Amino acid sequence: MRAFIITGTSRGLGYEICKQLIKRNHLIFSVARNNNDSLIELAAQNDCKLHFVKYDLQNIDGISELIRGIMKRVNEEVESITLINNAAQVTPLGNIDNYRPEEAVKSIQTNLLAPILLTQSLINQTAERNVHRIIVNVSSGSAKDATAGMSLYCASKAALNMFTSCIQLEDHKSLTIYKVDPGMVDTTMQELARNQEGLSIAAFFKEAKEKGALKSAEDVAKKIVRRVLAS
Ligand SMILES: NC(=O)c1ccc[n+]([C@@H]2O[C@H](COP(=O)([O-])OP(=O)(O)OC[C@H]3O[C@@H](n4cnc5c(N)ncnc54)[C@H](OP(=O)(O)O)[C@@H]3O)[C@@H](O)[C@H]2O)c1
Repeated sequence: MRAFIITGTSRGLGYEICKQLIKRNHLIFSVARNNNDSLIELAAQNDCKLHFVKYDLQNIDGISELIRGIMKRVNEEVESITLINNAAQVTPLGNIDNYRPEEAVKSIQTNLLAPILLTQSLINQTAERNVHRIIVNVSSGSAKDATAGMSLYCASKAALNMFTSCIQLEDHKSLTIYKVDPGMVDTTMQELARNQEGLSIAAFFKEAKEKGALKSAEDVAKKIVRRVLAS
């Protein structure tokens, strides 16, 4: 039996990753603010145990308890536990003089602090178990390409990359941690950025959409799931 904790499963890439991991012998905890009934139905049809955990990752103080609650439902016999830090928000979009301080805090909570604290909680709370821990942080090209109007998203993804690299250098028993960059994917997040008035990169995203250059969430998820299952 393998266990998976996937954040941001209500739509987009996280939904596809979760869908493709639905298999017999997989125990899945899907985390988001909104449920997606089709995942529950698919899991029931495939004899897969899937628990939806309704949680707002901006609530960073509750993350340790979130993992504790999940770990209570993961028995000692599982061979591996995989955490996929996929949930993120691209908002607020716009130059720094156009967003409020509280919006900046929320963005960093969701995109950076939540994956950091999920990683820490998982590592600490599984330290005594004889289990392979796999942590996948979903990155972005925005971690490397500075973009006007996307300062918080770019900064949080760049910091998440560096966080991942640092943990890779630490010595933790049976831990595999890496980042994946999905490229431009046709999801709600892309749509939001594409349609944001005054955002200079919106025209580039629009052109990419029109030219069919956006990847499908299904194809990107296939690659991520293949790597996760081989980890
Ligand atoms: N789309 C792209 O072109 C692209 C490119 C590079 C990287 N990425 C990365 O790929 C990942 C998935 O993006 P996507 O395009 O699939 O985005 P999306 O369509 O906007 O989906 C985001 C998911 O994250 C969840 N989420 C957001 N805020 C949350 C919160 N506070 N608490 C719990 N869950 C939250 C959402 O669920 P709820 O709203 O139900 O909570 C949703 O399921 C992200 O890490 C993103 O940065 C995307």
